[in-house]
Amino acid sequence: TGDTGRTRSAGSARPDAVRARVPAKVNAQLAVGGARPDGFHDLANVFLAVGLYDEVTVAPGAPGGGPVLTCTGPDAAQVPLDATNLAARAAVALADRHGIAPDVRIHIAKDIPVAGGMAGGSADGAAALLACDTLWGLGTPRDELLALCADLGSDVPFSLLGGAALGTGRGEQLTPLSVGGTFHWVFAVAEEGLSTPRVFQEFDRLTAGSDVPPPAADPALLAALRTGDAPALAKALANDLQRAALSLRPALRATLTAGTDAGALAALVSGSGPTTAFLAADAEAAHRVAGALAASGTCRTTRVAASPARGATVVADTADP
Ligand code: C5P
Repeated sequence: TGDTGRTRSAGSARPDAVRARVPAKVNAQLAVGGARPDGFHDLANVFLAVGLYDEVTVAPGAPGGGPVLTCTGPDAAQVPLDATNLAARAAVALADRHGIAPDVRIHIAKDIPVAGGMAGGSADGAAALLACDTLWGLGTPRDELLALCADLGSDVPFSLLGGAALGTGRGEQLTPLSVGGTFHWVFAVAEEGLSTPRVFQEFDRLTAGSDVPPPAADPALLAALRTGDAPALAKALANDLQRAALSLRPALRATLTAGTDAGALAALVSGSGPTTAFLAADAEAAHRVAGALAASGTCRTTRVAASPARGATVVADTADP
């Protein structure tokens, strides 16, 4: 049962704990259309999963207790442990769908920076959904898991899928993309977060009165991904939310400049920010850029990671946690 990448023989005992690993993302292109009647924006969102991972472990909880969350990691203090956490919401949504009780302990080992722009919260939602599906032996079909992810948030389906994909609609309708090589990234994590709805509002304010064209993926960018051509990808990277993020957080300009001054092929705001992303020519260049960014004093911390990366995956289901 369940497309979890491992087999359990029929009739075998339920696992006592299940751990899922899930990557962060960067947006290679984020084309934003006008606001829709439902408040969302149509997007052409080219997601790339990057090799920075959270691990979410689920185990049976006290009957009637609902989801109980714990979190460890450098940014753990910033992670909400209440019912608003996407991992808790994922467990409740899956349990509701199958008419069972969401009594589960959820532990998040958080390595994805908590800042915004890397889909760390979405990642935990996708991982919790997959892990609970395995723990509870539900075998929910993949397309239903993706639909549940879409209900949780626009970026959550991609966290389940991983690799690279074009997201249309509000970003949740995914078409997988092929990637012909490894891309090396540096991420600069800002001191303070930026609210995604607030950045979209600022986009609306900045584009008010002008004609916002329907969002479309850039063929040159898709070709660069397909051929693994980092310099070509660098030329094509684009984020329509960048102006809005910089308008709300002008200090991010200095971070972008510090990265390009240090030799990054390109610099951009990741998603709605405030995390900034830098494409480097190779792994060595990425570490050089990260060092320069750390020394520049324009960010809280830096991380180096390569893409693409696998989507949410069960890495352990054990009868003996
Ligand atoms: O889907 P998600 O809950 O992650 O979206 C958070 C917020 O970001 C939405 O409430 C909306 O304000 C904004 N958003 C948007 N258009 C999208 C995705 C998100 O306006 N396509």
